[in-house]
Amino acid sequence: MADPRLHRILPCVETRKCGTTGLKLSVLGIGCWSFGGSDEDYWGRQDQSAAEGVVRRAVELGINYFDTAEAYNSGRSETALGQVIRGVPRDSVVIGSKISPSNTFPGRITEHCESSLKRLATDYIDVYMVHWPLTARSISFFDRSITTPPAVDEAFAELMRLREQGKIRFIGVSNFAPGRLREAIDTGAVIAVNQLPYSLLSRAIEWEILPSCEQLGVGIIGYMALQQGLLSDRYSSLGELPALRRRTRHFDSRKVPQARHGGNGAEAELDDALKGIRALARDLQTTVSRVALAWCIARPGVTCALAGARNVEQLEENARAFASPLPANLVDELDEITRPLKQKLGPSLDYWEARDNDRTV
Ligand SMILES: NC(=O)c1ccc[n+]([C@@H]2O[C@H](COP(=O)([O-])OP(=O)(O)OC[C@H]3O[C@@H](n4cnc5c(N)ncnc54)[C@H](OP(=O)(O)O)[C@@H]3O)[C@@H](O)[C@H]2O)c1
Repeated sequence: MADPRLHRILPCVETRKCGTTGLKLSVLGIGCWSFGGSDEDYWGRQDQSAAEGVVRRAVELGINYFDTAEAYNSGRSETALGQVIRGVPRDSVVIGSKISPSNTFPGRITEHCESSLKRLATDYIDVYMVHWPLTARSISFFDRSITTPPAVDEAFAELMRLREQGKIRFIGVSNFAPGRLREAIDTGAVIAVNQLPYSLLSRAIEWEILPSCEQLGVGIIGYMALQQGLLSDRYSSLGELPALRRRTRHFDSRKVPQARHGGNGAEAELDDALKGIRALARDLQTTVSRVALAWCIARPGVTCALAGARNVEQLEENARAFASPLPANLVDELDEITRPLKQKLGPSLDYWEARDNDRTV
């Protein structure tokens, strides 16, 4: 049942409207967390000329969305992205950045937004997201000394002022479970997007937050679309994935010193899911990463799937996923293949913490 349409490379990646807002994002977004990275950082060293190549080629392929955060490599991801986009017409790119929840106390949001603008070397950020909810549990991950969270209405009022001043075009959130999203919307802020983990191997959003976002007109940007490289199929066993990327509840915490969730993992279900996806990709004579990325955007509520790309080769491979939509029967088949893993991991959106310590609620 080889489907030749899965092989063609798209001259131009499709764009989609983000929820009910006027924001339009390409269905493939470039995760820029690795940009500006050094040996000590999560993704390791990232060569600036490779980052430049990725951004230039992405724009040629019709990809407009570039995702960063003030926290990524202590601001160096924003700086590296800023240097690269100087050479690209500003209106051909949509820049998303995120403020850490620990920096959302009154007055500090404006200060932090201005610092991000400087690093990005731009006059406005297209989508400015609150990286994690404004709760004590979520904030303490960024700054242990903070025990009382900021007032949600004051924080979003300041974001609305930034919007009025033209410093940001759209307000977004990230890792917000339904209750937190509703709380943000109740402040009167128009929330364009909720950035959430979403991949064939991380389907928790399907339980509650995906339908909530659809109902509320909020777009979804799915991160971890390649499960931090696991769905690129370059690892012949789970243990080969770098330890830092094995800290999620998919993996047995006893085998990963850096894991915080304390659980036994779901490695049997994960292995079975990967075998099933590989077999399906083989039947279609395509790659696991293309199947994984095409599946992510098959649900209309998902506006954009984010994938990091270290070089132009990875980017082009990923862009090939969007040559044509994944047929509905294949989406269903992939849903079935990964259902036992989805059930085992459950509806908690926080893949790094135990369910009773979920930072998204
Ligand atoms: N909002 C949040 O809380 C949050 C959290 C995490 C990530 N994000 C965003 O999501 C972006 C993506 O990060 P992620 O964690 O979701 O990772 P990901 O995109 O699932 O994985 C990216 C990694 O996969 C590998 N890769 C990508 N394309 C490949 C290809 N074609 N062939 C082989 N390997 C390939 C590369 O690994 P190597 O580096 O090993 O080559 C790359 O660094 C980040 O940059 C960030 O913007 C947001």
